[in-house]
Amino acid sequence: EKGGFDHFMLKEIYEQPKAYRDTMRGRIDESGSKVIFPELNLTEEKIRSINNIHIVACGTAYHAGLVGGTAIERLVRIPVAFDVASEYRYRSPLITPETLVIVVSQSGETADTLAALREAHANGAHVLAITNVVGSSIARDADDVIATLAGPEIAVASTKAYTSQLIAFYLFGLYLAEVRGTQTAEEISHIIAAMQSLPEQVEAMLENTDAIKAYAEHISNHNNLFFIGRGVDYAVALEGSLKLKEISYIHSEAYAAGELKHGTLALIEDGIPVIALATQEALLEKTVSNIKEVKARGAEVMALSHEEHVSSLLKSVDQAFAIPKTLPLLTPALSVVPLQLLAYYASLARGNDVDKPRNLAKSVTVE
Ligand code: M6R
Repeated sequence: EKGGFDHFMLKEIYEQPKAYRDTMRGRIDESGSKVIFPELNLTEEKIRSINNIHIVACGTAYHAGLVGGTAIERLVRIPVAFDVASEYRYRSPLITPETLVIVVSQSGETADTLAALREAHANGAHVLAITNVVGSSIARDADDVIATLAGPEIAVASTKAYTSQLIAFYLFGLYLAEVRGTQTAEEISHIIAAMQSLPEQVEAMLENTDAIKAYAEHISNHNNLFFIGRGVDYAVALEGSLKLKEISYIHSEAYAAGELKHGTLALIEDGIPVIALATQEALLEKTVSNIKEVKARGAEVMALSHEEHVSSLLKSVDQAFAIPKTLPLLTPALSVVPLQLLAYYASLARGNDVDKPRNLAKSVTVE
């Protein structure tokens, strides 16, 4: 049942290229220049009337929402707000019939996310669910469903569900951009083409994982570490940190790279590992300044970037890993993969139950 893998989590990490392809299949027209969503009830008129979007979810699904909402805001120029589902109702969010509420849930059964959906409905919003389980409570209650086609996810730590949620968000963002005319046909084709290369790029990354495994074994001897990044790299840092905590039980914090000096820099001491995501070229220089801040306090820095920046980064970091090149907005679909492997191998090195971490359940049906 684990298809020759030692754990479901590793199997599911390796299933990601297929999950990307399956989630894109049938949603891109033959010419590769248009996204189509025959399953949606959302009319073009309705899409044109939306004036704000709320993205609500828990845990890893929330982290996918952070990336997805950033993509939508950039592509469509509609304001997007993000909430963890357990907080949403209690801040009296401003929900109107012009609000599109997107709930994200692998299982479709998360109690807080379902409650958020009901709150949105009570205020007249249209609710779109991005879920991996089409017969779930959330799928049933939502006005529209985009199914992620990742296949069943068994490991408690979510991997292929997260990345297929990213794909679903990118597709939906492009679809909104088409309808609202906020991106040209050329821009849309260009992004679609880059998305279609993602599965092969993930395959390439999964071919040789020795270096990340060795790094994971190294960090498994530490009790504290940091992830830093800017922009979507920060969103991926949050996900990398959650994954590591969840299964390796190593304490880590994810910080917006520029925010460290507002307090957290005090925790940087000699030898502490810092994982710096530096995939966003427009932000690279600033991220490098932040890397220097932690290096100067004795941190041992690993950077994740693209091949062409590795040699210059190595002047300021101890180790660097390269991810394949894609468009800046799409990098999370690649950069998260080494972080999933890092969590997996660190958990393994510590002798933990990788697929069933302590205190956690796959589906959280209590608030
Ligand atoms: O089924 P859901 O996507 O609604 O689950 C949400 C979270 O409980 C889930 O993503 C959790 O954070 C994962 N175990 C993280 O790997």
